[in-house]
Amino acid sequence: MKLEGRTAIITGSGRGLGKSIAMKLAKMGARIVLNDIASSDTVDATCAEMKEKGYSAVVAKGDVRDENDVESMIKTAINEYGSVDILVNNAGITRDMPLIKMGEKDWDDVLDINLKGAFICTKAAVKEMMKKRYGRIINVSSVAGLMGNRGQANYSASKAGLIGLTKTTAKEYASRNILCNAVAPGVIESKMTDVLPEKVKEKYLENIPLGRFGTPDDVADVIGFLASDDSDYITGQVIHIDGGLVM
Ligand SMILES: NC(=O)c1ccc[n+]([C@@H]2O[C@H](COP(=O)([O-])OP(=O)(O)OC[C@H]3O[C@@H](n4cnc5c(N)ncnc54)[C@H](O)[C@@H]3O)[C@@H](O)[C@H]2O)c1
Repeated sequence: MKLEGRTAIITGSGRGLGKSIAMKLAKMGARIVLNDIASSDTVDATCAEMKEKGYSAVVAKGDVRDENDVESMIKTAINEYGSVDILVNNAGITRDMPLIKMGEKDWDDVLDINLKGAFICTKAAVKEMMKKRYGRIINVSSVAGLMGNRGQANYSASKAGLIGLTKTTAKEYASRNILCNAVAPGVIESKMTDVLPEKVKEKYLENIPLGRFGTPDDVADVIGFLASDDSDYITGQVIHIDGGLVM
């Protein structure tokens, strides 16, 4: 129970990777604040599922782009559990299309949620973490932020931006014992990859030395490590979780 007594906020955790991360951190002993957008039809069910397993979990719905929503998410953590020890900036969207067809709104929506949202959540969480001189922030970037990806000018830029945010946060708050790292998942098994034609899957797999797609648990396990004291000499790093795709 390496996270016993810690409180973790995971943004966008109603489903997908965020849900797996929340389950992992809860299994390690953390008390969980699940965040997702107001219209999420999954986050309450995820919370109920966690409680059934005997985990401590609470829902704080809100948009990561909205400072008021984020403030109330932080308040929920403090009122329910007394602290904010771990923040996982996981909420993210895609609006894929060729750059010349990409409208300003497609650009702004992705940058606002994936990058500005992480900035707003980090700023709010760091204020609480500073009081306790303890914090672990993990930003969910992507291999697209490291090497670019056709059709993802907005998404790649947001995920590359997250890496800059990670390194700056790490430098500014290391002296307060607030560590900040990023993970860069590659192709992770999800509804999105399930529907890919076999030929496309084979093409992807040719470039992955480990010869398989990742699983949400592959990502959650690394985040569990970064959230724990086992990684207390690691900050400002980007850990690739991609089967060797980028090296
Ligand atoms: N799935 C992959 O292969 C993969 C690979 C690399 C990186 N990632 C990153 O991992 C993260 C999770 O991806 P996923 O595949 O689980 O996606 P997903 O779409 O299944 O989950 C994202 C969650 O974020 C929530 N969300 C969206 N906008 C939000 C907002 N403004 N405020 C709060 N919550 C919001 C959604 O409602 C959803 O529950 C994303 O940041 C994504 O970019 C995913």
